[in-house]
Amino acid sequence: MLKDYPKAIVTKDGDSVLLRPVTVEDEEALNEFFSEISDQEQWFLREKLNDPKILHESLKKLNYKRTLPIVAVREKDGKIVANLRLHLSLAPSIGHVAHLRVMVHPDFRSLKIGSWMILDCVKTAMDMGLEKLFAEFVAGAEDSAIGAALKLDFRHEGSLKDYIKDKHGGYRDLVIMSRDLQSKWSDF
Ligand SMILES: CC(C)(COP(=O)(O)OP(=O)(O)OC[C@H]1O[C@@H](n2cnc3c(N)ncnc32)[C@H](O)[C@@H]1OP(=O)(O)O)[C@@H](O)C(=O)NCCC(=O)NCCS
Repeated sequence: MLKDYPKAIVTKDGDSVLLRPVTVEDEEALNEFFSEISDQEQWFLREKLNDPKILHESLKKLNYKRTLPIVAVREKDGKIVANLRLHLSLAPSIGHVAHLRVMVHPDFRSLKIGSWMILDCVKTAMDMGLEKLFAEFVAGAEDSAIGAALKLDFRHEGSLKDYIKDKHGGYRDLVIMSRDLQSKWSDF
């Protein structure tokens, strides 16, 4: 699985981008990446990796068996243009499922990078023997991501009403989507 990285993709505008697991050397480029995300989107980040201290701690404790963080790196200058995290569990009762979160840099959206990363994550999850992927979205704030997920065969599982608070104190629903992972890989 990890031996398959780096993987090269080409964006819709022809740039070469490499997908590969995060390493401790990525700290500076990741800090830059998160600092360029809008305040509104930073608010909804679950792990607050936009805080340099929290990012530093998470890089010190990298454990690909618990969280597999994959970055998309522009080949010509090493800029991180997207970040995906696959959250796994070691508990046997939920070891067959995983959760993914993905964030594409605002200047690099609609170039198919998000789709490539999610499809790559689906393949990696299948290679790991996982049976189902889950992703959670904030209604009214991450609707484009819901559209992207639907196109990649995720389906709506349900919503948790008022689970999320926005920065103005308003409530938002959490939309839960899932994708079954068939035993035969045929998406590419
Ligand atoms: C959602 C996100 C990951 C999509 O990545 P991307 O590289 O921009 O998307 P792609 O170019 O692969 O496009 C895939 C689909 O996403 C949707 N999409 C992408 N950008 C969009 C936009 N600006 N407005 C509306 N829909 C959009 C479309 O359905 C698109 O399909 P299409 O090109 O056939 O119309 C990215 O926009 C993002 O990081 N959003 C903010 C963070 C977020 O909401 N994360 C989800 C939490 S898991």
